[in-house]
Amino acid sequence: MATNIKKIAVFTSGGDSPGMNAAIRAVVRTCAYMKVECVAIYRGYDGMIDGDFKPMNARSVNNIINKGGTILKSARCEEFRTAEGRQKAHEQLKKEGVDAFVVIGGDGSFTGALTFNKEFDFPVIGIPGTIDNDIFGTTYTLGFDTALNTVVDAIDKIRDTASSHNRLFFVEVMGRDVGHIALNVGVGAGAEEILIPEENLGLERLLDSLKRSKKSGKSSSIVVVAEGDKIGKNVFELKEYVEEHLPIYDVRVSVLGHMQRGGAPSCFDRVLASRMGVRAVEALLEGKTNLMVGIQDNKIILTPIAQAIKGHTKIDKELIRVSDIMTT
Ligand code: F6P
Repeated sequence: MATNIKKIAVFTSGGDSPGMNAAIRAVVRTCAYMKVECVAIYRGYDGMIDGDFKPMNARSVNNIINKGGTILKSARCEEFRTAEGRQKAHEQLKKEGVDAFVVIGGDGSFTGALTFNKEFDFPVIGIPGTIDNDIFGTTYTLGFDTALNTVVDAIDKIRDTASSHNRLFFVEVMGRDVGHIALNVGVGAGAEEILIPEENLGLERLLDSLKRSKKSGKSSSIVVVAEGDKIGKNVFELKEYVEEHLPIYDVRVSVLGHMQRGGAPSCFDRVLASRMGVRAVEALLEGKTNLMVGIQDNKIILTPIAQAIKGHTKIDKELIRVSDIMTT
């Protein structure tokens, strides 16, 4: 279906992730290619409400494909949750002559986009950008692959010092509600145990596993803990618990924190961002709305945003089995 879309806005929203800049670049360049005007919105929905816009052309996004973070800044906007806030945002978009937008973010950002579409019949397309990989409708979100590489690199370094001192390390990684990062880096960095929100291993099993590991002659141990894990103790309490019940262990804790969200995007994330950005603009120009661009079986697909928000991603059980076998 041909559309009357002549100007598309692009912005990033929620937690940043590597690959967002590559996606902004892809949206801007696809607009230029399709001869559609493009405008960037700074600071997510906050900037939309304030009218913080900047016209973009193909040259505005030179040399950003390799940059972490987001050149457009990001925010979690309370005001956009209110009808008045959304009304102001709509007025600003109208004033600027914007006909549709592409939002790069997570499910909070998508929820806002969907509400906005319902209220103003405004065409919106989402690109999933979060290191947590917790969005239904795509096998990979932007930034997940880069974060995995960043975390594996950090754990490799921790292992060097752990094995030099025969120590046990609890390494906390991001993942408020899901364990995709923890599970993948746990396998990739050879962790003894992986604690994720989706599976409650139980403290007894953790102790048994650590006992076995010591008995089998291992010189160091790494336990990867997702920040949202459900074992009932945070990493520091886990350290105390293990030191009390298994005094043979000298335990340390490392919380990796926000360094996991930074850094240059991997090649995988750059390619994914480019493909998603192209499809997002094409979809709008085909008259589509309320869809999220995703990837499945290496094909770029579109999923209704309503499903992407409601659906839950599933943990890869095979990885749990592989990890169990690898820790023999
Ligand atoms: O980007 C997702 C995430 O990394 C979560 O895993 C984490 O809980 C959250 O962001 C923390 O982000 P912030 O400090 O920006 O609120």
